[in-house]
Amino acid sequence: MTERTLILVKPDGVKRGLTGQIIARIEAKGYTIAELKQVSATRELLAQHYAEHEGKPFYEPLVEFMLSGPVVAIVAEGHAVITGFRSLAGTTDPTTAAPGTIRGDLGRDWGLKVQQNLVHGSDSPESAAREIGIWFGN
Ligand code: CMP
Repeated sequence: MTERTLILVKPDGVKRGLTGQIIARIEAKGYTIAELKQVSATRELLAQHYAEHEGKPFYEPLVEFMLSGPVVAIVAEGHAVITGFRSLAGTTDPTTAAPGTIRGDLGRDWGLKVQQNLVHGSDSPESAAREIGIWFGN
């Protein structure tokens, strides 16, 4: 089934000039870029986006990190793109994310309170619909 997912190139990816490489990997896998914009997130927007993490020890550092520079928000489209992009991204911790993935090839642990792991991808059709609404409106 053709799906849409919300992808964010996080501030570490934008600052390091990796946006192009990340988009190239999405396109090389055969997904389509349906929407794309660079945005400076607000606290309100991030509170919605990360609602499920509120109260966790990394929540505040995560929000500060996401406010530390612009983010590139992308809606990607394709058959099974939600699972497919998470596979391309690799597991959350970039230290152990598999080589060949975005996080495994391009990310690393900087010894900070939050895992700066370059990208976000929606984890389910429900999250994708919710997150696309948050970042792009309905
Ligand atoms: P993401 O999966 O996009 O959304 C939650 C983010 O919180 C995650 O990426 C990491 O950037 C960060 N994160 C998740 N778990 C931890 C953790 N245990 N310690 C620090 N940061 C984390």
